[in-house]
Amino acid sequence: MSVKRLLCVTNEDGAYARVVYGELRAWDVCLVDTVAAARKVLSQQHYAVGLLLDSGDSTRDEETERFLRRHHHVRWIGVFDPVRLEQPALRHLIATHLFDFHTRPVDPLRLQHSLGHAHGMAVLGKTPQPNPRSAAAGRITGNSEAIVRLRAHIAKIAAVDAPVLISGESGSGKELAAQEVHARSQRAAGPFIAINCAAVAPALIHSELFGHERGAFTGAAKDKQGLLEAASGGSIFLDEIGDLPLDLQASLLRFLQERVIYRVGSTRTIAVDARVIAATHVNLPQAVAAGRFREDLYYRLSVFPIRVPPLRERKEDLSLLTELVFNKYAEERSPQLKGVSREALQAMAQYDWPGNVRELINRVRRAMVLAEHRLLMPEDLELPGIVPLSPVQDGLGNTRLNAERAAIWDSLARSGNNISQAARDLGVSRMTLYRLMAKHSISP
Ligand SMILES: Nc1ncnc2c1ncn2[C@@H]1O[C@H](COP(=O)(O)OP(=O)(O)OP(=O)(O)O)[C@@H](O)[C@H]1O
Ligand SMILES: [Mg+2]
Repeated sequence: MSVKRLLCVTNEDGAYARVVYGELRAWDVCLVDTVAAARKVLSQQHYAVGLLLDSGDSTRDEETERFLRRHHHVRWIGVFDPVRLEQPALRHLIATHLFDFHTRPVDPLRLQHSLGHAHGMAVLGKTPQPNPRSAAAGRITGNSEAIVRLRAHIAKIAAVDAPVLISGESGSGKELAAQEVHARSQRAAGPFIAINCAAVAPALIHSELFGHERGAFTGAAKDKQGLLEAASGGSIFLDEIGDLPLDLQASLLRFLQERVIYRVGSTRTIAVDARVIAATHVNLPQAVAAGRFREDLYYRLSVFPIRVPPLRERKEDLSLLTELVFNKYAEERSPQLKGVSREALQAMAQYDWPGNVRELINRVRRAMVLAEHRLLMPEDLELPGIVPLSPVQDGLGNTRLNAERAAIWDSLARSGNNISQAARDLGVSRMTLYRLMAKHSISP
């Protein structure tokens, strides 16, 4: 078995920590003095089990609560002064966030037992471990064939210093793809500047993009650099390029051909070295046919097209994306929520996600706040047109599974999470109960 690693947060009670520390010889202990230090350790490595030695200072409870809520993947065991247990807020914190708790003076044997139990549950439960790096990178998440292909395609295109046209439905990840093109290109150290052509008033967009000379128009009191110039050495992301007015399409084409720009009100050319990455959710060939988009600009931009697939074409990624959202917004979640139910993932797979990844982020985030159970349920997601399966439609197999899960929950609740008692109650061995709990992603 692997070395048992323990994160021990003393919460500034070093003296008592040393007493307890003596009992932890079987563990590889990382001892930190403050919650802030523990946060730092957890941002770099995963710990399945944590020991929280409370200092008795109730003014810190709020900070501790936030911390425990954020790091819900760790099975926490707390040690408190018995007097503290009279405080309702602390009792609530213990009941909601802790795997187990002890009062001082600690009974060493019971502490060893409860730490070992937490470790065993972690091994059994194989709780998905957040990968701090992948979560922090904000990169294109997914293991589906469509996303693997997209990432490989982007890697190739990023290496070529030419314009890129990204198409995809709303919320599918076009801007993320543009950032990835930039980050993987030789221009990565340069600026990445984004402008949404649909959001800027047509009267302003010319000067926004190309800049202006002092006195070029009423209100132009000073010379102003445009975004293209500002993106020099890097990339400019022109979002919703289909909404660029026709006269500006001509100016953009000139820039792509000659690599120079004119500020509004000036005849002086300025050389600009910026890569254009454009995105659209409208069908540009149709816009060309309708005369709303210049054909020559379309061909210039679409030498290296990237299509970001809609979420419904990569439903295998739903669970990974949900996990990403779950970890990102862990601090906001309703305190008893520990994970996402299999039923919720099944319901998500039935839904078509017209708003794509952005819709998924919003729905899961909202559901995490409003959820009332230990696991996020299909109804929490409020997916239009998706009726969570009733036991009859669900088939006998799932009905049995649901009944099994409910029985485990009930007996754990009745026994106050005492595994031996719950196992006796259910008429199974402790090992069988552990196995069943792991199967249903239930942690005590
Ligand atoms: N594969 C992915 N992995 C992780 N996050 C993603 C992924 N795809 C999209 N996102 C996230 O979803 C949200 C929407 O993505 P983005 O803004 O790139 O979409 P878009 O196609 O530009 O949307 P719109 O058309 O509305 O402008 C962002 O928060 C983005 O970080
Ligand atoms: Mg966008």
